Amino acid sequence: MIVAGNWKMHHGPESARSFLRKYRPPTGMEEEPRVLIFPPALSIPAAREALTSNGGVELGAQNMHWETEGAYTGEISPPMLVELEIRHVLVGHSERRAHFGETDADVTRKVRSALEHGLEPLACVGETLEEREDGRVEEVLRRQVEHVLEGASGHAGGPGIRLAYEPVWAIGTGRTATPEDVSRAHGNIRGTLAEVLGHEQAREIPILYGGSVKPENAAGLMEAPNVDGVLVGGASLDPESFAAIVAAGSGGRKSG
Ligand code: PGA
Repeated sequence: MIVAGNWKMHHGPESARSFLRKYRPPTGMEEEPRVLIFPPALSIPAAREALTSNGGVELGAQNMHWETEGAYTGEISPPMLVELEIRHVLVGHSERRAHFGETDADVTRKVRSALEHGLEPLACVGETLEEREDGRVEEVLRRQVEHVLEGASGHAGGPGIRLAYEPVWAIGTGRTATPEDVSRAHGNIRGTLAEVLGHEQAREIPILYGGSVKPENAAGLMEAPNVDGVLVGGASLDPESFAAIVAAGSGGRKSG
């Protein structure tokens, strides 16, 4: 199980430090989930400093450019993340797609570049409400997953990627997909992975769910078949509620 927190544009350096001072990983867990936090890039050094007294949390970046360096005002490059000892990077979050024009082709480039630099991309896919109402969930997920896999192709030893299914209509809306919806979508994603990579490799790729995950619904979502963890936005901003979600992820892996 993986429990990941996406802080989005919240928690500047001081506030990140304060979160990590307050965050206490739950004790007595049957099986500890892997815990990742994605702070705003500027807060990464402060978060790293505060983590020295708080093992068990890994840090990631919310975005990066695919180029190594260049005239790209406002962007952050993969080697810069590597220099900060960052291992994880979110790619293709729906907010990047919706507000910053990130395309499927950009996602392919970012996944490829992340892997080339030894970073582990967590690539987000998910349909909008309109696409869902038009009955296009499967088609949209397939297209997005294929673009992620295109970026991962040719990397020695397997794709080294993680996916997050984040239906756009469930993000920040308080409207969570039901465990049945989630398991169906994850099954579709797993099917596309298996078609491209074969069943064995497809089974190895974790698929997280994201969209209004809260302490109250986290355990139910993580128990659903094919769900290997959660990507949490709003509820990851408070150390206690994030710890409660981490505790909900301690029940062990139930992929199938
Ligand atoms: P939310 O965001 O938990 O606030 O819905 C999830 C995400 O965007 O990753």
